[in-house]
Amino acid sequence: MTRARKHVAAMAPYALAGLGGADGHPAPSLAQNESFRPPCPGAFDAAVAAMTDAALYPDPDWTELRSMIATRHDVDPDTILCGSGSLELIGCLARAFAGPHRSVLAPEHAYPYFRSAAQASEARFDTAPESDCTVSADALLEAVRPDTGCVFLANPGNPTGTRIPTGEIRRLRDGLREDILLVIDEAYGEFADHLDAPVFDMVATGNTVILRTFSKAYGLAGCRVGWGTFPTGVAAEVRKVLNPNNVSAISQAAARAVLRDDAYMRETCAMTAERLDQAAAKLAALGMRCPSSCTNFLLLDLETQERARSAEARLRSGGAVLRAQGAAGLPHCLRMTIGPERELDNAICLLETWIGENLP
Ligand SMILES: Cc1ncc(COP(=O)(O)O)c(C=O)c1O
Repeated sequence: MTRARKHVAAMAPYALAGLGGADGHPAPSLAQNESFRPPCPGAFDAAVAAMTDAALYPDPDWTELRSMIATRHDVDPDTILCGSGSLELIGCLARAFAGPHRSVLAPEHAYPYFRSAAQASEARFDTAPESDCTVSADALLEAVRPDTGCVFLANPGNPTGTRIPTGEIRRLRDGLREDILLVIDEAYGEFADHLDAPVFDMVATGNTVILRTFSKAYGLAGCRVGWGTFPTGVAAEVRKVLNPNNVSAISQAAARAVLRDDAYMRETCAMTAERLDQAAAKLAALGMRCPSSCTNFLLLDLETQERARSAEARLRSGGAVLRAQGAAGLPHCLRMTIGPERELDNAICLLETWIGENLP
């Protein structure tokens, strides 16, 4: 029999959210941190217009998109690479910079794909402890080992929703060995941009990468467009392992269109923050604890794994799918996306019923 390489055969597949309701049919999902809003109107027209050239391969260098991203964030377009979602860039970074003798370090409750990417590259995956679902620069620095090759850090974090201030991120970089690549994944960055100064300038250190995505605040999760700003040498290596023609012409056109409508994206972020505050207040009134979140989701602390499982099943049977968090080392927690109003209200109502039936 043909066998996969040993480290791949030993891996568990990356578990995406199970979206089936109690009857097995897809239920409204609050499990994937997607936007509750469609992309801005201009994205529809742009995607349809791009179909005219669908017989041709897309721009493999994402030239116009890079130029627009660069203007939007005041970064050099030559430092930008685009991916089929930021997932592709994370995977390629691990493939190029981690391996059997270059371990990956991440926070204890890090985005689980960091572990999968490390495992696929045959790298050991180490974690730094968090306190109140927040990691500190000191905890990460203390967890560095002689063979640490990469530090992956989502800021804000998923599934915690918490954020490390820019000053701490800079202190982390200053304290890391120069040969360690620091990858700062800002998938939820747009929701937190008003809180602190950007860190894009850190790419000039030569060993720091900043990643972003169009999947969250811009509402383009289905189009699969992520991007990052990379030091020149790092970009050259990542490019070698990136799939050629990785972002379709339709997706590039949609991404360019959403960048033209900054007001719509900002409105999405403001609406999300308002709904998140309302949901957090309702949950607090039910006695449920959530870390303060600057993203489009809340982490619900059910205190025990048994309770989390029971609440998840009850919600699913009522048509609300939340994401269990065992893979992030939080088996007592569920993550709830700030989704469409009706679904969100339904989930909170179901939780209230579950609390009434199950908690003293
Ligand atoms: C922290 C983080 N990084 C990266 C991603 C991947 O996003 P995408 O591949 O859609 O850009 C996600 C998606 O949920 C995420 O939460």
